[in-house]
Amino acid sequence: MTQRDINILAIETSCDETAAAVVRNGREIRSNIISSQIELHKLYGGVVPEIASRKHIEKINQVIEEALSVAKTNLHEIDAIGVTYGPGLVGALLVGVAEAKAISFATKKPLIGVHHIEGHISANYIEDKELKPPFICLIVSGGHTHLVLVRDYGKYEIIGKTRDDAAGEAFDKVARAIGLGYPGGPKIDKLSREGNSQAMWFPRAHIEGAPYDFSFSGLKSAVLNYINSLEMKHEEINRADVAASFQEAVVDVLVSRTILAAKDYEMNQVAIAGGVAANSALQKAMNAACIENGLKFNCPSPIYCTDNAAMIGTAAYYEYIKGKRSGLDLNAVPNLKIGER
Ligand code: KG4
Ligand code: ZN
Repeated sequence: MTQRDINILAIETSCDETAAAVVRNGREIRSNIISSQIELHKLYGGVVPEIASRKHIEKINQVIEEALSVAKTNLHEIDAIGVTYGPGLVGALLVGVAEAKAISFATKKPLIGVHHIEGHISANYIEDKELKPPFICLIVSGGHTHLVLVRDYGKYEIIGKTRDDAAGEAFDKVARAIGLGYPGGPKIDKLSREGNSQAMWFPRAHIEGAPYDFSFSGLKSAVLNYINSLEMKHEEINRADVAASFQEAVVDVLVSRTILAAKDYEMNQVAIAGGVAANSALQKAMNAACIENGLKFNCPSPIYCTDNAAMIGTAAYYEYIKGKRSGLDLNAVPNLKIGER
């Protein structure tokens, strides 16, 4: 007997992308619709929570309709609704959660609350159909920098995290300081290709007694101090060199901690996730380090690294087959911890 297909409608509104997707059996993406608000928030140099919530309300129905229509399906054929319920901006999360609850109530289909970071990790399952836990995953986004031991589907252990800024936050702040605008990550990535990553030395923080933890505030300050000192002397700043040298410092730390964790925990697979995982220098360096250490490396395509609903559908599927369900009392939890439900 062939097993029946499981189709999940997934919704993601935790930050500045209104997204919906239809995912079949966890790893087949039937549609992946993303309405980005970046152009709107660019005007303010970062995400404005009030504007984000309002825009999600305007777009959510349209994005869901498009996800169903591109997948050539309808709500009757959907088995469950997966939705990000944290962490993220509370007003933004609430739009997705309320929408998912309304659909679940109206269609009597089960509701599954998904952790945003678990979604990012699950993005690795989409293109590599063979990838199975256990593996070490580095999650680097605008709000998080975590090293996670993925023991099984939905079973996570945080082994390291940032003590201050997230990696993406450091990219965005340095980009702003050298006049690149928001979001800074992709712009630093691009400009770095024209720069010399050895032009200046920026610090790589090591935290005593916490070998898998990160700290980026010292690095960020070092870059800002360097820029200020040149400005005071009225000397010209080579922005491409600053971008490349900063990026190299971030990448060095991310790669060395991840490889160390993989070795210490005797893992033979490494994955990366989150917006910063789209960084070309990080992908290149992590891939080279994995080859050197005999580790299998996995990285989602850029579209699955940054916020999207396909990854939420994948994470929801593994919860669904384990029988996990959320009630209609599901609420947005802005500071939701990983593994907590
Ligand atoms: O995962 P994400 O889309 O949203 C959060 O959950 O935070 O990550 C957004 C972050 C931003 O800080 C952005 O600058 C960074 O990911 N980012 C990049 C690149 N693309 C996006 N950072 C470095 N290089 C990139 N190519
Ligand atoms: Zn994210």
